[in-house]
Amino acid sequence: MPRRRKILVLFGTRPEIIKLAPVIRELHKSSFMTTIVSSSQHRHLLEPFLKVFGVVPDHDLDLMRKDQTLNHICSEVIRSLDEIILTERPDVILVQGDTSTALAGAIAGFNCKIPVGHVEAGLRSGDRMSPYPEEMNRRIISQIADFHFAATEANRHRLLAEGITEKRIEVTGNTVVDTLTTYSAEVKPSKDLGEILGRARSMKLVLLTSHRRESFGSIMEQNLRVLSDFVRSRPDVCLLFPVHPNPNVGSAAGSIFADQERIYLVDPLDYNDFIAAMKAAWLVVSDSGGIQEEAPSLGKALLVLRENTERNEAIEAGVAKLVGGDPKKLKEMLESNYNDESWIESVRTIKNPFGDGTASKRIVAYLKKVL
Ligand code: UD1
Ligand code: UDP
Repeated sequence: MPRRRKILVLFGTRPEIIKLAPVIRELHKSSFMTTIVSSSQHRHLLEPFLKVFGVVPDHDLDLMRKDQTLNHICSEVIRSLDEIILTERPDVILVQGDTSTALAGAIAGFNCKIPVGHVEAGLRSGDRMSPYPEEMNRRIISQIADFHFAATEANRHRLLAEGITEKRIEVTGNTVVDTLTTYSAEVKPSKDLGEILGRARSMKLVLLTSHRRESFGSIMEQNLRVLSDFVRSRPDVCLLFPVHPNPNVGSAAGSIFADQERIYLVDPLDYNDFIAAMKAAWLVVSDSGGIQEEAPSLGKALLVLRENTERNEAIEAGVAKLVGGDPKKLKEMLESNYNDESWIESVRTIKNPFGDGTASKRIVAYLKKVL
């Protein structure tokens, strides 16, 4: 009887577990064996998601340190994976996206001559320093990977243009839509979030997230000031900001929004609460990657707090608008949407360009075909 193939699935951050949980579920339903490895690049952010998705890591690299450096993450993941690969002998290592955990997982696989599968392949901003270091991480992972799971046709074309062989690319949609489809129908806010949403019910709720390294410092502070002024001068607007645990974010949020009326600073929300908050939002303002892919499914207009985006499909579909690096533009966009809500209204019925909720099934089917 042929040996059952084993897939090592590696993640370490919040977006990775959100996007790999449905793949793990499909693998468990299949004939593949699995080894689930968490780098714990995010320790606190990850925990509630492991619980809600029912994912139990076989190995926990437990590497998170306060103010960790990119090199600390990469070197610890590579060092620890060496031993795990030796004992578990996986046939494929599956990594997701563009984090330091994913980059290090791909390098570790390559060095041990284990084929690497890349979920969410082919995203490119075109600027090697933005998002930093994610754009370079993705490019390197594409060079290493043997199997490329592209969310969209545009992603596939980027890979082909870089010389990746056609038969190694599978267009699957983004697995974030699988997760959202599974969980969004049933969300019910927790008591704490419910209280905030209750107070926001008759108001325009802006949902804000911001955590990108390239905007730390002046740009992030200026953007937060613009939002603070916008809320202060409009009594029917409130703002909810789940603050990322990176100390750079907390210190900016604490100093600019301190004790301001109608601004709610909360700890990062679990998935259930975050989706409930998105559903309740009048407008989402964010520099997140995943939120650009989720907003279309929830019919929410999104202002992208970045210089560029590798998720152009959201802009082309009309769900998102790019703010760029100039806080004055954010001010203008907030004001124009407050005065004329036609764009926000129009977004409600737009189809999600990032997939139909079957990406994980397609990924596992492809692996079955090639292994
Ligand atoms: C990482 C990813 C980024 C992704 C983001 C999602 C890289 C290079 N970047 O960035 O692509 O968008 O995750 O959130 O991999 N911290 C905690 N507890 C946690 C998580 C983080 O205290 O559970 C604090 C620590 O002080 C840590 C800092 O946040 O040093 C930054 O975390 P890190 O994983 O290094 O980078 P992110 O900015 O979260
Ligand atoms: N998210 C969450 N709680 C929060 C903020 C975000 O559950 O308080 C989810 C969100 O729904 C999305 C993902 O986290 O699926 C995005 O992660 P993040 O913004 O940290 O990373 P990125 O997508 O930018 O890499």
